[in-house]
Amino acid sequence: MPEEAKKEKKPYMPPPPPEGKEVLVSVRGVDKIFTKGGETVYALNDINLDIYRGEYVSIMGPSGSGKSTLFNMVGALDRPSKGEVSVGGVSLPSLASSNLSYFRCKHIGYVFQSYNLIPWLTAMGNVMLPLTFLGTPEEEAKARAKHVLELVGLGHRLDHTPGECSGGQQQRIAVARALANDPSIILADEPTANLDQKTGQEIIQLMKDLCVSEGVTVITATHDFKMLKASDRIVWIKGGNVSKVEDVSNLDIRVGGVSESDYNE
Ligand SMILES: Nc1ncnc2c1ncn2[C@@H]1O[C@H](COP(=O)(O)OP(=O)(O)OP(=O)(O)O)[C@@H](O)[C@H]1O
Ligand SMILES: [Mg+2]
Repeated sequence: MPEEAKKEKKPYMPPPPPEGKEVLVSVRGVDKIFTKGGETVYALNDINLDIYRGEYVSIMGPSGSGKSTLFNMVGALDRPSKGEVSVGGVSLPSLASSNLSYFRCKHIGYVFQSYNLIPWLTAMGNVMLPLTFLGTPEEEAKARAKHVLELVGLGHRLDHTPGECSGGQQQRIAVARALANDPSIILADEPTANLDQKTGQEIIQLMKDLCVSEGVTVITATHDFKMLKASDRIVWIKGGNVSKVEDVSNLDIRVGGVSESDYNE
């Protein structure tokens, strides 16, 4: 986006949190600029966003709008070009690289479109990895891995490798792995993109259930309008800007369900 066009837009600014809500993730004035082959891409332009502890937020926007880039900022996988991101009061841009990997493993669980499981490890082995990384003793790690695999409905597939599981089951293993270290946040970037509609909805419902039962904050990106129902709030992102943030209940009242016209407002 040209610099002038960028300056014309008034950025979204979050209101003070409603009573009883605690801001867990705070994003302020975040820009992300990529320069490649002489081209400058303003992937994020002055993003301001608050995400409350225990809520389920969907980030919605067309391809290339900056969803994954925003995820990488919130998930401490990349640093902003400018601005501040804090999680639980910890400023991520100011953490040294060595502290960032510990922070990621301890506080954030990641779920990706392509599952990203280790093919030669069993479901147990995959889920134990982040526990082992943080130095959890083996017996404790085994018990925790078994517990979270049972939570996602895979108590009967503990010794299966990913190749011996369906796509939906593999994504459940990934959700269990994300939960292993009892994170405050699960970040799920297009978690249903490789799944059929029914299995995708089951994964979304699973994350919604975990959000309610485990109190974990879920932040997910999706293209799929049918996946928005589980959300408490929806963040609409367009051209690297937050265009609006809405409660899902408002959406239902206004349009009787979300429709593609929401993209075009
Ligand atoms: N490492 C990079 N180097 C250069 N440009 C990048 C890089 N990563 C992302 N971009 C650009 O930043 C913009 C936002 O990309 P991003 O991946 O965040 O979009 P997205 O909303 O996640 O899209 P999708 O729905 O297709 O996954 C795009 O124009 C993309 O080409
Ligand atoms: Mg993406």
